[in-house]
Amino acid sequence: MRKLARKKIRNIKPYKPGKPIKELERELGISERDIIKLASNENPIGPSPRAIKAIRESIDLIHRYPDGSSFYLKKKLASKLRLKPQNIILGNGSDEIIDIVTKAFLEEDEEAIISEPSFLEYRIIVKTRGARIKASPMELPSVLGGKGSSRRFAYNIDDVLRSITRKTKLIFIGNPDNPTGSYLTKKELAYFLKKCPKKVIVVFDEAYREFVDKRDYSNPIDFIDKHSVIILRTFSKAYGLAGLRIGYAVTSEKLAGWMERVRQPFNVNLLAQIAAESALDDKAHLSKTKAVIKKGREYLEKDLKRLGFDIIKTPANFLLISYRGVKGTDLFKSLLPYGVIIRDMKVYGLPAWVRVNVGTMDENRRLIKTLKRLNYGVSR
Ligand SMILES: Cc1ncc(COP(=O)(O)O)c(C=O)c1O
Repeated sequence: MRKLARKKIRNIKPYKPGKPIKELERELGISERDIIKLASNENPIGPSPRAIKAIRESIDLIHRYPDGSSFYLKKKLASKLRLKPQNIILGNGSDEIIDIVTKAFLEEDEEAIISEPSFLEYRIIVKTRGARIKASPMELPSVLGGKGSSRRFAYNIDDVLRSITRKTKLIFIGNPDNPTGSYLTKKELAYFLKKCPKKVIVVFDEAYREFVDKRDYSNPIDFIDKHSVIILRTFSKAYGLAGLRIGYAVTSEKLAGWMERVRQPFNVNLLAQIAAESALDDKAHLSKTKAVIKKGREYLEKDLKRLGFDIIKTPANFLLISYRGVKGTDLFKSLLPYGVIIRDMKVYGLPAWVRVNVGTMDENRRLIKTLKRLNYGVSR
């Protein structure tokens, strides 16, 4: 049967998402109400109340196809970003936009440069196109045995630039990246784009942009007219609409035009469009989300450090943690019977690490309490 599949996809390992709450309920008989999930970087306070209201008011319309052009949502996004609707492409989550980008631009005999470790979907989707991946290692912080003095991973932009060949078409940069939290500073971005040939398209994935509170944080949207750049954003994280699947790309009209040609006509569903519009207007929900993440992140950083965890801090809504050589898989498994789901980072090439996202304060406290109960920080 293996032979039925295209040769280029035979060795792809399917993407494994964070363990669903319902799955743990089925497996261990723990009630859904008693489970907390800190594994998929979702919004802990839920969706915007305004988005929920808009969905309720529109539910009777779901016998209709959605507006394939997402007219009103594009208009709203464009006015917010001070661009034209023609600069925006909507997708069924930003995952779908990664797919659209490779479908529009990446030939089978071309290459994509992906930093390591970085979001796994870039690799998987590039492989589905049959194209080659060139890995560029991020600089390792000292806690991971590297020379870097910082406690976060950093993009090695010179290595990325050196990796460009005649065949390079795409470069993926998480800004900030999942799971490492690395991002490009304004200075790094200007340097990088100046040196990067325009025949290479740089994709900046900004799924976590709204959480970043750093003065030196770059904004690649300023460069869409002069360079070949595509910026990905999503409603799944800060806007709390992961279950509806909606994200978008911002780019030049020219690149957007090519992406429109390969997009499915009704890729963004009707409720998602309506909810996203309302979520954009719900400034109170966004501010509350950011405040919850900031406070929770500080709390987790402090208490996990106190328990003796190594921490890679990120400016986003998650952190990478490791405990004195304990395997990430073991740490992940040890929490499951207590109804706590976190993310094992083995598939990211980080077997000693797990990723936890910031939850509500109750959830954050429960994580710490459970770790203490399991004797992390005491006699291990
Ligand atoms: C860096 C990054 N990009 C994209 C996505 C996918 O987001 P979406 O829900 O918009 O498909 C994620 C989700 O975890 C992510 O971490």
